[in-house]
Amino acid sequence: MSRIPLPYNPKVMDLFRNPKNLGKMEDATVIAVAGNPACGDMITFYLKINEQTQIIEKAQFESYGCAANIATSSIVTEMIKGLTLEATWDSITWQKVTEEIGGLPSVKFHCGVLAVGALKRAIRKYFDDRGSEPAWMPKENTFEEKQALEEEELAKTLSKRVKPEEEKSP
Ligand code: FES
Repeated sequence: MSRIPLPYNPKVMDLFRNPKNLGKMEDATVIAVAGNPACGDMITFYLKINEQTQIIEKAQFESYGCAANIATSSIVTEMIKGLTLEATWDSITWQKVTEEIGGLPSVKFHCGVLAVGALKRAIRKYFDDRGSEPAWMPKENTFEEKQALEEEELAKTLSKRVKPEEEKSP
């Protein structure tokens, strides 16, 4: 059965084919993962942060998600370069990223949400590791962080449900 291709705009397709800042960062200050390897939708964000100024000097990602996830992650790494952690936290939302990329099919909104969830998780982890949450960071998870958690929970539940069936097959 052939599938109908999703209506991605040319910018998304270009970033999917030629993603910027893709790959592992060896000297990252902080690394965060979102998604679940069991379902394949997994993203890792690497940030190199200047400890004095809290400016993001470099951002890279690895993604096993779809075209929308790769394209949104790529554009996020470009948008945050040179910003402080606070400015990044305040200005980067999944809506902003989706807009920047020229829009996504609605069934793919969650892929951009996952990318921003990974980024926000990385920033939160940076401060958690140092035991010093800044006043501007909300205690409660943002929408994107909550969505990433929900996807992870869902993937865990589904993989538990699928396993007994797999075990039954010869
Ligand atoms: S990242 Fe899972 S469908 Fe896009």
